[in-house]
Amino acid sequence: MQTDHKRVLLAAPRGYCAGVDRAVVTVEKALELYGPPVYVRKQIVHNKHVVSTLEKRGAIFVDETQEVPEGATVVFSAHGVAPVVHDEASRLQLKTIDATCPLVTKVHREAVRFAGEDYDILLIGHEGHEEVVGTSGEAPEHITIVDNPDAVEHVTVRDPDKVVWLSQTTLSVDETMETVRRLREKFPNLQDPPSDDICYATQNRQLAVKQMAPDTDLMIVVGSRNSSNSVRLVEVAVEHGAQAGYLVDYADEIDEAWLEGVATVGVTSGASVPEVLVRDVLDWLAARGYADVKPVVAAEESLLFALPMELRKELKARG
Ligand code: F3S
Repeated sequence: MQTDHKRVLLAAPRGYCAGVDRAVVTVEKALELYGPPVYVRKQIVHNKHVVSTLEKRGAIFVDETQEVPEGATVVFSAHGVAPVVHDEASRLQLKTIDATCPLVTKVHREAVRFAGEDYDILLIGHEGHEEVVGTSGEAPEHITIVDNPDAVEHVTVRDPDKVVWLSQTTLSVDETMETVRRLREKFPNLQDPPSDDICYATQNRQLAVKQMAPDTDLMIVVGSRNSSNSVRLVEVAVEHGAQAGYLVDYADEIDEAWLEGVATVGVTSGASVPEVLVRDVLDWLAARGYADVKPVVAAEESLLFALPMELRKELKARG
Protein backbone atom coordinates (compact mmCIF):
# COMPACT_ATOMS: atom_id res chain seq x y z
CA MET A 1 0.00 0.00 0.00
CA GLN A 2 1.27 3.50 -0.89
CA THR A 3 1.39 5.81 2.16
CA ASP A 4 1.12 9.60 1.74
CA HIS A 5 2.33 12.32 4.16
CA LYS A 6 5.02 10.24 5.74
CA ARG A 7 6.32 11.90 8.87
CA VAL A 8 8.14 11.30 12.14
CA LEU A 9 7.09 12.53 15.59
CA LEU A 10 10.23 12.83 17.69
CA ALA A 11 9.79 12.72 21.46
CA ALA A 12 11.39 15.22 23.81
CA PRO A 13 12.71 14.54 26.31
CA ARG A 14 14.33 11.29 25.23
CA GLY A 15 17.65 9.57 25.79
CA TYR A 16 20.20 10.27 28.49
CA CYS A 17 18.98 11.26 31.94
CA ALA A 18 21.18 12.98 34.51
CA GLY A 19 21.96 9.71 36.32
CA VAL A 20 23.08 7.88 33.19
CA ASP A 21 25.18 10.80 32.01
CA ARG A 22 26.91 10.92 35.38
CA ALA A 23 27.52 7.15 35.44
CA VAL A 24 29.01 7.06 31.94
CA VAL A 25 31.23 10.10 32.59
CA THR A 26 32.33 8.44 35.85
CA VAL A 27 33.74 5.44 33.99
CA GLU A 28 35.34 7.67 31.34
CA LYS A 29 37.01 9.84 34.00
CA ALA A 30 38.13 6.79 35.98
CA LEU A 31 39.77 5.43 32.82
CA GLU A 32 41.52 8.78 32.27
CA LEU A 33 42.68 9.04 35.89
CA TYR A 34 43.77 5.49 36.62
CA GLY A 35 44.30 4.09 33.14
CA PRO A 36 42.77 0.82 31.97
CA PRO A 37 41.59 -1.54 33.14
CA VAL A 38 38.84 -0.09 35.30
CA TYR A 39 36.41 -2.72 36.56
CA VAL A 40 32.69 -2.04 36.55
CA ARG A 41 30.28 -4.19 38.53
CA LYS A 42 27.33 -5.02 36.24
CA GLN A 43 26.52 -2.97 33.16
CA ILE A 44 27.16 0.66 34.11
CA VAL A 45 23.82 1.49 32.44
CA HIS A 46 21.54 -0.90 30.58
CA ASN A 47 22.64 -0.14 27.04
CA LYS A 48 24.56 -2.43 24.70
CA HIS A 49 26.23 0.37 22.75
CA VAL A 50 27.42 2.26 25.85
CA VAL A 51 28.85 -0.92 27.37
CA SER A 52 30.70 -1.99 24.22
CA THR A 53 32.10 1.53 23.69
CA LEU A 54 33.47 1.63 27.25
CA GLU A 55 34.84 -1.91 26.87
CA LYS A 56 36.85 -0.75 23.87
CA ARG A 57 38.33 2.02 26.04
CA GLY A 58 39.45 -0.42 28.73
CA ALA A 59 36.50 -0.97 31.08
CA ILE A 60 36.00 -4.56 32.21
CA PHE A 61 32.44 -5.44 33.18
CA VAL A 62 32.01 -8.13 35.81
CA ASP A 63 28.94 -9.65 37.41
CA GLU A 64 30.24 -9.91 40.92
CA THR A 65 32.73 -8.06 43.06
CA GLN A 66 34.74 -11.27 43.69
CA GLU A 67 35.77 -11.22 40.02
CA VAL A 68 37.70 -7.97 40.57
CA PRO A 69 41.41 -8.51 41.41
CA GLU A 70 42.43 -7.46 44.91
CA GLY A 71 43.30 -3.78 45.21
CA ALA A 72 41.84 -2.84 41.79
CA THR A 73 39.39 -0.01 41.08
CA VAL A 74 35.73 -0.90 40.67
CA VAL A 75 32.81 1.32 39.70
CA PHE A 76 29.33 0.46 40.96
CA SER A 77 26.64 0.93 38.33
CA ALA A 78 23.88 3.57 38.21
CA HIS A 79 21.34 1.01 39.49
CA GLY A 80 22.82 0.90 42.98
CA VAL A 81 24.11 -1.91 45.18
CA ALA A 82 23.13 -3.51 48.46
CA PRO A 83 25.27 -2.76 51.54
CA VAL A 84 26.73 -6.31 51.39
CA VAL A 85 28.40 -5.37 48.11
CA HIS A 86 30.16 -2.42 49.75
CA ASP A 87 31.25 -4.72 52.59
CA GLU A 88 32.61 -7.27 50.17
CA ALA A 89 34.52 -4.60 48.24
CA SER A 90 36.18 -3.34 51.39
CA ARG A 91 37.08 -6.92 52.40
CA LEU A 92 38.80 -7.30 49.03
CA GLN A 93 40.46 -3.90 49.53
CA LEU A 94 39.03 -2.59 46.29
CA LYS A 95 39.05 1.08 45.46
CA THR A 96 35.37 1.81 44.86
CA ILE A 97 33.65 4.56 42.93
CA ASP A 98 29.92 4.56 43.46
CA ALA A 99 28.03 5.72 40.35
CA THR A 100 24.61 4.91 41.84
CA CYS A 101 22.12 7.50 40.57
CA PRO A 102 21.33 9.94 43.40
CA LEU A 103 17.62 9.30 42.76
CA VAL A 104 18.17 5.61 43.46
CA THR A 105 20.16 6.49 46.57
CA LYS A 106 17.16 8.54 47.70
CA VAL A 107 14.99 5.39 47.59
CA HIS A 108 17.67 3.46 49.53
CA ARG A 109 17.55 6.13 52.24
CA GLU A 110 13.77 5.93 52.41
CA ALA A 111 14.02 2.15 52.83
CA VAL A 112 16.57 2.50 55.63
CA ARG A 113 14.46 5.13 57.38
CA PHE A 114 11.17 3.19 57.25
CA ALA A 115 12.89 -0.05 58.24
CA GLY A 116 14.41 1.82 61.20
CA GLU A 117 10.87 2.79 62.23
CA ASP A 118 9.88 -0.89 61.89
CA TYR A 119 7.51 -0.45 58.94
CA ASP A 120 6.72 -3.21 56.48
CA ILE A 121 7.93 -1.82 53.16
CA LEU A 122 6.18 -2.88 49.95
CA LEU A 123 8.69 -2.25 47.19
CA ILE A 124 6.94 -2.09 43.83
CA GLY A 125 9.45 -3.24 41.23
CA HIS A 126 10.64 -6.04 39.05
CA GLU A 127 11.98 -9.02 40.95
CA GLY A 128 15.61 -9.63 40.02
CA HIS A 129 16.21 -6.17 38.48
CA GLU A 130 19.54 -4.84 39.79
CA GLU A 131 17.99 -1.73 41.30
CA VAL A 132 15.40 -3.77 43.20
CA VAL A 133 18.07 -6.20 44.42
CA GLY A 134 20.13 -3.23 45.66
CA THR A 135 17.25 -1.42 47.38
CA SER A 136 15.83 -4.52 49.04
CA GLY A 137 19.32 -5.37 50.28
CA GLU A 138 19.13 -2.28 52.52
CA ALA A 139 16.55 -3.95 54.77
CA PRO A 140 15.74 -7.45 53.51
CA GLU A 141 13.77 -8.37 56.63
CA HIS A 142 11.40 -5.40 56.18
CA ILE A 143 10.94 -5.38 52.40
CA THR A 144 8.48 -7.34 50.27
CA ILE A 145 8.73 -6.96 46.50
CA VAL A 146 5.45 -6.41 44.66
CA ASP A 147 6.11 -7.10 41.00
CA ASN A 148 2.78 -6.05 39.42
CA PRO A 149 -0.88 -5.31 40.28
CA ASP A 150 -1.83 -9.00 40.25
CA ALA A 151 0.82 -9.78 42.85
CA VAL A 152 -1.05 -7.68 45.43
CA GLU A 153 -3.43 -10.47 46.38
CA HIS A 154 -0.55 -12.52 47.80
CA VAL A 155 0.97 -9.69 49.85
CA THR A 156 0.87 -10.06 53.62
CA VAL A 157 2.17 -7.66 56.28
CA ARG A 158 2.69 -7.83 60.04
CA ASP A 159 0.67 -4.73 60.89
CA PRO A 160 -1.67 -3.23 58.24
CA ASP A 161 -1.45 0.14 60.00
CA LYS A 162 2.31 0.33 59.64
CA VAL A 163 2.99 -0.22 55.99
CA VAL A 164 4.53 2.01 53.32
CA TRP A 165 5.09 1.56 49.58
CA LEU A 166 8.23 2.55 47.72
CA SER A 167 9.13 1.82 44.11
CA GLN A 168 11.79 1.18 41.53
CA THR A 169 12.63 4.42 39.69
CA THR A 170 11.94 3.21 36.15
CA LEU A 171 8.44 1.74 36.23
CA SER A 172 5.30 2.52 34.26
CA VAL A 173 3.61 5.35 36.16
CA ASP A 174 0.10 4.05 35.33
CA GLU A 175 0.79 0.44 36.25
CA THR A 176 2.42 1.49 39.50
CA MET A 177 -0.61 3.61 40.40
CA GLU A 178 -2.83 0.59 39.74
CA THR A 179 -0.66 -1.52 42.04
CA VAL A 180 -0.91 1.18 44.71
CA ARG A 181 -4.69 1.37 44.27
CA ARG A 182 -5.00 -2.36 44.88
CA LEU A 183 -2.60 -2.24 47.81
CA ARG A 184 -4.63 0.55 49.36
CA GLU A 185 -7.82 -1.44 48.93
CA LYS A 186 -6.17 -4.16 50.98
CA PHE A 187 -4.34 -1.86 53.42
CA PRO A 188 -6.35 1.41 53.72
CA ASN A 189 -3.71 2.99 55.95
CA LEU A 190 -0.93 2.38 53.44
CA GLN A 191 1.54 5.26 53.61
CA ASP A 192 2.90 6.97 50.47
CA PRO A 193 6.62 7.59 49.90
CA PRO A 194 7.80 11.05 51.00
CA SER A 195 8.24 11.99 47.31
CA ASP A 196 7.91 10.29 43.90
CA ASP A 197 10.22 7.32 43.56
CA ILE A 198 9.61 6.95 39.82
CA CYS A 199 12.17 9.46 38.63
CA TYR A 200 11.62 12.63 36.62
CA ALA A 201 13.31 11.14 33.54
CA THR A 202 11.10 8.04 33.48
CA GLN A 203 7.99 10.17 33.96
CA ASN A 204 8.91 12.72 31.28
CA ARG A 205 9.77 10.10 28.66
CA GLN A 206 6.46 8.34 29.30
CA LEU A 207 4.59 11.66 29.13
CA ALA A 208 6.02 12.45 25.68
CA VAL A 209 5.11 8.99 24.41
CA LYS A 210 1.56 9.34 25.75
CA GLN A 211 1.17 12.61 23.84
CA MET A 212 2.44 11.11 20.59
CA ALA A 213 0.92 7.66 20.73
CA PRO A 214 -2.65 8.45 19.55
CA ASP A 215 -1.24 9.97 16.31
CA THR A 216 1.33 7.27 15.77
CA ASP A 217 1.03 4.20 13.56
CA LEU A 218 4.38 2.78 14.58
CA MET A 219 6.47 3.67 17.65
CA ILE A 220 10.16 2.91 17.52
CA VAL A 221 11.86 3.03 20.91
CA VAL A 222 15.65 2.94 20.86
CA GLY A 223 16.89 0.99 23.86
CA SER A 224 18.14 -2.35 25.10
CA ARG A 225 15.97 -5.27 26.21
CA ASN A 226 17.30 -5.19 29.78
CA SER A 227 16.53 -1.46 30.11
CA SER A 228 13.41 -1.25 32.27
CA ASN A 229 12.49 2.32 31.32
CA SER A 230 12.93 1.59 27.59
CA VAL A 231 10.73 -1.51 27.70
CA ARG A 232 8.08 0.50 29.57
CA LEU A 233 8.08 3.12 26.76
CA VAL A 234 6.99 0.50 24.21
CA GLU A 235 4.22 -0.69 26.54
CA VAL A 236 3.03 2.86 27.25
CA ALA A 237 2.97 3.67 23.50
CA VAL A 238 0.79 0.69 22.65
CA GLU A 239 -1.49 1.24 25.67
CA HIS A 240 -2.06 4.85 24.57
CA GLY A 241 -2.95 4.21 20.96
CA ALA A 242 0.15 3.46 18.87
CA GLN A 243 -0.77 0.73 16.39
CA ALA A 244 2.52 -1.05 17.01
CA GLY A 245 5.66 -0.50 19.04
CA TYR A 246 9.14 -2.00 18.82
CA LEU A 247 12.35 -1.75 20.81
CA VAL A 248 15.60 -1.64 18.81
CA ASP A 249 19.21 -1.24 19.87
CA TYR A 250 20.32 -0.09 16.43
CA ALA A 251 18.69 1.26 13.25
CA ASP A 252 19.61 -1.88 11.32
CA GLU A 253 17.27 -3.89 13.56
CA ILE A 254 14.25 -2.08 12.08
CA ASP A 255 12.29 -4.36 9.79
CA GLU A 256 11.13 -2.67 6.55
CA ALA A 257 7.89 -4.66 6.86
CA TRP A 258 6.97 -2.62 9.95
CA LEU A 259 6.53 0.43 7.67
CA GLU A 260 3.83 -1.18 5.55
CA GLY A 261 0.87 1.26 5.49
CA VAL A 262 2.50 3.51 8.09
CA ALA A 263 2.10 7.30 7.75
CA THR A 264 3.38 8.46 11.14
CA VAL A 265 6.34 6.94 12.94
CA GLY A 266 6.99 7.93 16.56
CA VAL A 267 10.61 7.86 17.71
CA THR A 268 11.96 8.02 21.22
CA SER A 269 14.74 6.48 23.31
CA GLY A 270 15.27 5.18 26.81
CA ALA A 271 17.21 7.03 29.49
CA SER A 272 20.42 5.07 28.83
CA VAL A 273 20.56 5.66 25.07
CA PRO A 274 23.12 7.96 23.41
CA GLU A 275 21.62 10.41 20.91
CA VAL A 276 23.80 9.11 18.07
CA LEU A 277 21.67 5.94 17.96
CA VAL A 278 18.49 8.01 17.57
CA ARG A 279 20.15 10.00 14.76
CA ASP A 280 20.90 6.70 12.98
CA VAL A 281 17.23 5.74 13.25
CA LEU A 282 16.14 9.12 11.87
CA ASP A 283 18.58 8.76 8.94
CA TRP A 284 17.29 5.24 8.28
CA LEU A 285 13.71 6.52 8.22
CA ALA A 286 14.58 9.57 6.08
CA ALA A 287 16.11 7.26 3.50
CA ARG A 288 12.70 5.57 3.27
CA GLY A 289 10.70 8.76 2.81
CA TYR A 290 10.14 9.72 6.46
CA ALA A 291 12.18 12.91 6.34
CA ASP A 292 9.61 15.28 7.85
CA VAL A 293 10.47 15.29 11.58
CA LYS A 294 8.26 17.08 14.06
CA PRO A 295 9.36 17.33 17.71
CA VAL A 296 6.79 16.66 20.42
CA VAL A 297 8.00 18.38 23.57
CA ALA A 298 6.42 17.16 26.81
CA ALA A 299 8.85 18.70 29.29
CA GLU A 300 12.12 20.59 29.59
CA GLU A 301 14.97 18.98 31.50
CA SER A 302 18.03 20.68 32.92
CA LEU A 303 19.03 18.48 35.87
CA LEU A 304 22.71 17.63 36.23
CA PHE A 305 24.37 15.61 38.98
CA ALA A 306 27.86 16.18 40.34
CA LEU A 307 30.31 13.31 39.80
CA PRO A 308 30.75 10.81 42.67
CA MET A 309 32.62 12.27 45.62
CA GLU A 310 35.54 9.77 45.33
CA LEU A 311 36.19 10.97 41.81
CA ARG A 312 35.82 14.66 42.59
CA LYS A 313 38.35 14.34 45.41
CA GLU A 314 40.83 12.59 43.13
CA LEU A 315 40.33 15.15 40.35
CA LYS A 316 40.87 17.96 42.82
CA ALA A 317 44.01 16.34 44.24
CA ARG A 318 45.47 16.06 40.77
CA GLY A 319 44.70 19.72 40.06
FE1 F3S B 1 18.49 8.03 37.75
FE2 F3S B 1 16.12 8.01 36.67
FE3 F3S B 1 18.18 8.00 35.16
S1 F3S B 1 16.76 6.98 38.52
S2 F3S B 1 19.69 6.85 36.29
S3 F3S B 1 17.60 9.66 36.56
S4 F3S B 1 16.33 6.84 34.81
